Order: sequence, then structure tokens, then C-alpha cells
Amino acid sequence: MRRLSGLLIPVVVPLLMAALWMDEQPSYKPYEPPVLSSPPGSVPITGKETVPSDAESKNPVPRSRESAARGEKLFAVNCAMCHGRTLTGPGPVGRKLNPPSPVLDPPLVRNRSDSHIFRAVTFGFGRMPSFRESLAPHERWDLVNYLRSSG
Ligand code: HEC
Repeated sequence: MRRLSGLLIPVVVPLLMAALWMDEQPSYKPYEPPVLSSPPGSVPITGKETVPSDAESKNPVPRSRESAARGEKLFAVNCAMCHGRTLTGPGPVGRKLNPPSPVLDPPLVRNRSDSHIFRAVTFGFGRMPSFRESLAPHERWDLVNYLRSSG
């Protein structure tokens, strides 16, 4: 008993006080006001990307050789199995589809706007999957620049 009361003051009392004070911290539960809003004009760099499906987005990535080179690498990894590494015929997966994946050759690309290609990659296109989760927006624009540079 003596031992216990020896512990009471230095250990138990501070713990109890801490538990009581914790109730009064200035923290907010989810969805509880005030919700902090971001400063005007700021651009989110994390979280969900919002691209309205009818957006006629302008290509923000300059059409440079560097961007096209980045796009070519991304294309080899993400797209070539269907659309073909060299843009002359469908890739091994694309050949198995019926009908096969279209070849994204210069005549086709010339007839498509940048935002059409961007949206096809972002949202998917017919039997093609969406790359919204796996490729960042600037990577999708690099792909646009690569396809554009091939023609
Ligand atoms: C699983 C196979 C597959 C993959 C992977 C794939 N695509 Fe496609 N893509 C297709 C098919 C198939 C179509 C044609 C839509 C259809 O027939 O349903 C298509 C259509 C497109 C179109 C629209 C062509 C048009 O006529 O306007 C673009 C642009 C395109 N793909 C780009 C890409 C890019 C860039 C990637 C890589 C990020 C990619 N695709 C990855 C299968 C694929």
C-alpha cells in the first residue's frame, strides 16, 4: 500500500490531469466547422483531380522535345502493348482485341485535338481503360505531345 501511494502522486495524478486536459484541445472533428479554406488563387497539388468531362482543356505543357521524350517513355510502358510500340500496328494485347486497338499514327492523331487525346487517356475511351489514377495530368500531356510529335 505504501508503494502504491508512492506511485499515486508522481504517476497517476499527472496521467489523470492529462486525460482531463485532452478534452479541451482546439481540434476539430471531421466536417465540424470551421473548415479551413485554401487561400484564394491556390492550386491543389494533392487529392482528387477535377476535370469536367466536357472540358475543352488547353495543353499547359509546351510541345518540346523533352516533353515528347518523356511521353515516349510513358507510352512504351502504358500504351504500347495495345497501340503498338512504333505506332505502325497494334501491340501484342491490341492484336488480341476484336476489333484490334486503333493505331495512333499521324493521320489519326492529326484529326484529333490535344484535349480529345487528353480526355481519352484521362477517362478511358470505349474499351480502353482510364489512366486518371495511374498517370499525373502533366504525364498525360507529355503523351499528347509525344503522339503529336510523331506526325
Ligand atoms: C488495353 C488496351 C489499351 C491500352 C493499354 C491503351 N489503349 Fe488507347 N485505346 C484502346 C482501344 C481498344 C481504343 C479504341 C476504343 C474502342 O475501340 O473501344 C483506344 C483508343 C484510344 C484513343 C482514341 C483514338 C480515337 O479514335 O480518337 C487514344 C487517343 C488512345 N487510345 C491513347 C492511348 C494512350 C495514350 C494510352 C496509354 C496511356 C492508351 N491509349 C492505352 C486500347 C488501349
